[in-house]
Amino acid sequence: MAYAAFRSIGAYVPSKILSNEDLATMVNTSDEWITKRTGIKERHIAAQDEFTSDMGVKAAELAIERSGIDKSDIDMVVCATISPDYFCMPSTATIISTKLGLGNATAFDISAACTGFIYILSIAKAFIESGMKKNILIIGAEKLSSITDYTDRGTCILFGDGAGAAVISATDNKDEAIIDVHTGADGTFADLLMTPNGGSGSVHDSLDQEANSCFMQMKGNETFKVAVRTLTKDVVEILKENNIESSEIKHFVPHQANYRIIKAVGDALKLKEEQVVLTVAKYGNTSGASIPMAINDIYERGILKQGELMLLDAFGGGLTWGSALVPFSPLK
Ligand code: ACO
Repeated sequence: MAYAAFRSIGAYVPSKILSNEDLATMVNTSDEWITKRTGIKERHIAAQDEFTSDMGVKAAELAIERSGIDKSDIDMVVCATISPDYFCMPSTATIISTKLGLGNATAFDISAACTGFIYILSIAKAFIESGMKKNILIIGAEKLSSITDYTDRGTCILFGDGAGAAVISATDNKDEAIIDVHTGADGTFADLLMTPNGGSGSVHDSLDQEANSCFMQMKGNETFKVAVRTLTKDVVEILKENNIESSEIKHFVPHQANYRIIKAVGDALKLKEEQVVLTVAKYGNTSGASIPMAINDIYERGILKQGELMLLDAFGGGLTWGSALVPFSPLK
């Protein structure tokens, strides 16, 4: 049987920074409020002519180069995004694949909001373990600024843009393998986090009205409570099911939505500060891109080493959630 190994990581962050101070000139908020309630200090914003696929390509180029795998051997590309270049079609994954020159590799997007990266990790694992594919490029890429309402202080302070990518490939060596991936969803909480317009479920009188109202809406406080409850239960279960103690986790890489959510889950697992990866202060919430951007952060800081075990967890619109136990298994 083939196992799936997490070979490499790459990320891209646009250069323009939107600080808390900048936001305080746009809506009724303050650096003090945002820092205290979320841990976010700044987020990066893509240029007007910089699309989700452009950021995904830059992250993917790094991931492919670091994987040591020839790009002609990549046989599938999956992109997690809620801010695709084009709604419906073509998928952002096909655009990224073509810009990278990956030939006719299978390519598609998935929509699981902030849990997107864990969902595409589970897809890559399943395709590789079934023997259908050998080298899969997974990408979380978001231009959330394109679906953010910058008059709504409840959401605009949270979100930023960026991309992260990883190469997952087949191995015979079980020690290199992704150990487990959990994914779940519950649509009864759909109204907590939505982009209510832009789809066939929209109620609108004109296309103009539609075009102007495709922004994210969130019931933040309720989402917060469900997030802490669901994530804590899920990470406890994945560790228990795999007989792994939280002390064996070298890097806890949570979705970077809010420092208080990360702290609550970390405390429930009795994790030490040095085990918890935090990038929320500098990038904010980049949805499907947040986990690979955080993994890239520890990789580029030289903290992530071969064989070290990562615990990933995420929560997002849908509602969706997931967790994963992943050893870092580079080829070189
Ligand atoms: N600046 C100042 N005051 C604000 C702001 C702001 N930016 N936003 C809200 N407030 C006010 C509210 O109006 C409210 O005022 P009131 O008490 O007078 O009514 C007060 O602050 C408290 O509001 P809450 O919404 O209860 O604040 P909370 O502590 O819950 O923080 C936040 C809000 C940061 C949004 C938090 O709830 C959160 O992080 N939620 C979870 C987000 C998340 O994880 N989403 C899932 C992933 S996202 C995805 O999938 C795309």
